[in-house]
Amino acid sequence: MSTSQKDKPWGGRFSEATDAFVEAFTASVQFDQKMAMQDINGSIAHATMLARTGILTDDERENILLGLEQIRNEIQSGSFDWSIKLEDVHMNIEARLTERIGIAGKKLHTGRSRNDQVATDIRLYLRDAIDAICAEITRLQHGLLELASREADTIMPGFTHLQTAQPVTFGHHMLAWFENLSRDYERYIDARKRVNRMPLGAAALAGTTYPIDRNITRELLGFEALCENSLDAVSDRDFAIEFTAASSILMTHLSRFSEELVLWTSAQFNFIDLPDRFCTGSSIMPQKKNPDVPELVRGKSGRVNGHLIALLTLMKSQPLAYNKDNQEDKEPLFDTVDTVRNCLRAYADMIPAIEVKREVMREAAKRGFSTATDLADYLVKRGVAFRDSHEIVGKAVRYGVENRKDLAEMSLEELRQFSDQINNDVFEVLTLEGSVNARNHIGGTAPVQVRAAIARAQNRLAKRLD
Ligand code: ARG
Repeated sequence: MSTSQKDKPWGGRFSEATDAFVEAFTASVQFDQKMAMQDINGSIAHATMLARTGILTDDERENILLGLEQIRNEIQSGSFDWSIKLEDVHMNIEARLTERIGIAGKKLHTGRSRNDQVATDIRLYLRDAIDAICAEITRLQHGLLELASREADTIMPGFTHLQTAQPVTFGHHMLAWFENLSRDYERYIDARKRVNRMPLGAAALAGTTYPIDRNITRELLGFEALCENSLDAVSDRDFAIEFTAASSILMTHLSRFSEELVLWTSAQFNFIDLPDRFCTGSSIMPQKKNPDVPELVRGKSGRVNGHLIALLTLMKSQPLAYNKDNQEDKEPLFDTVDTVRNCLRAYADMIPAIEVKREVMREAAKRGFSTATDLADYLVKRGVAFRDSHEIVGKAVRYGVENRKDLAEMSLEELRQFSDQINNDVFEVLTLEGSVNARNHIGGTAPVQVRAAIARAQNRLAKRLD
C-alpha cells in the first residue's frame, strides 16, 4: 500500500494513491475546520453514549474524552497540524486522536458515519451562529430605539416614489426599520427550531446495527428533537437554506436602510451626518467623506443572495441520500454567517451615533407641499367631497409652484381663491406639527404615538430570551 493510502481511514479497498490534484480538489479541511469545536463536542457526546450503552468500555470513553480535550487545546492554541491528505475536519481530528491515544481512538467512529457527523456539526455551528446573530439584531434594535426616542419630535419629509409625500417624524421612520428587524429576528428563531434537530445515529444512511440510544446523544448536545428518518437526516440541508433565506431577507432590509443613509449623508439631502469613524476619504478628492459602511452593507446583500441561490441549486437535483455535492454547502453558509454578523455589528455600532440635522430636515419637509393632504382632509371635514377637495388642493399647489410659495406661506385670501370653505383655522392644519400630531392612532407618526410605540418596543425586547 502506498504511503498516501495508509494515511486514509478508508484506504483499505484502494490499490493506487489518490491523484495529488484530486486529493486537493476533494478536500474540505481548508474551510470545514471552522467546525472543529462542534466536531469535538459531537464526538464527546457520541463516545459518552457508546459507553453508556455498553458499546465502548468506560476506560475507552475516558481515553477518548481526554484525547479530544487535548486536541481541542491544540486547535485553540494554533498548534494543530491540519493535513489536506486527511480530507476534512472529521478525519483530521480522528486521525490525531488515534495518534495520541491509540486503539481507543479507532473505536470512536463505531456506529457513526461522516454523513451523520457532518450534518450534526453544521447544525451545532448554525445554532451558535443564530444565537449570536439574534443577539446582534437585538443590540441594533436597542440602538434604533435610542435614536427614535431622541428624535421622536423631529420632523422630516416622508417619501413615496422618493418624492415628498407627507411630514413624518424621524423617530417614526426609525421604528419602521425596527419592525423589519423584529420579523428578521422571528424568522431566525423559527428556523432555529428546525436547525436544532439531531441527525446523529443515522450513520451513513440507513442507521446502525449497534444498540445505540440516540436520545442520550440528543440530550448531551442540547438538541430539541431527533431527525426521525435516517435517509433524510444525512441528506437534506433545507435548514441551511432556510437560514440563508432569512439572512437574505435581513440583508435586503439592511440594504434598503443603507440606501437611505447614503442618500441622507449626500450634500443634496444633508439630513444626517455619520461620525468620521464610520467613513473613509478619497485618495484624490480632499473634500470627500464617503459613507462606506452603508455602501458595503448594501453591496454585501448581493453576496448573501448569491449564497442562497448557490445552496438551492446545490440541493435541487440530489437523489437520496448523502452526496458529495453537500460538501459545497459550507463556504456559502459560513460566509453568510460571517457577512450577516459583520454587517449587524457595524450597524449596531453606527446607528445610535447618527447625528440628525433637524433644521435641514424641517426645511425639506416645508418644501414640496407635504401638508397638501392635510388641507384636503380639512376641506372634507367641512363637507367637501374628497375628490373635489383633492382637485381644489391640486389647484392651490399649482398656484404655489408658480408663485414659489408653500401652502402655509399663502395668505388666507390667496387660499380662499380655491375654496370659500377655507378659514383662519386652516393654518394650524398646514403646519408641520399640526400635520404629524393629527396622525394620532396606533402606528401613526404623531410624536405621542412614537413614544408609546417605543415603550411597547422596549417591552418586546425585554421579553426576549437572549
Ligand atoms: N467533508 C464531507 C462533507 O463536508 C464529510 C462527509 C463525507 N462523507 C463521505 N462519505 N464522503 O460533506
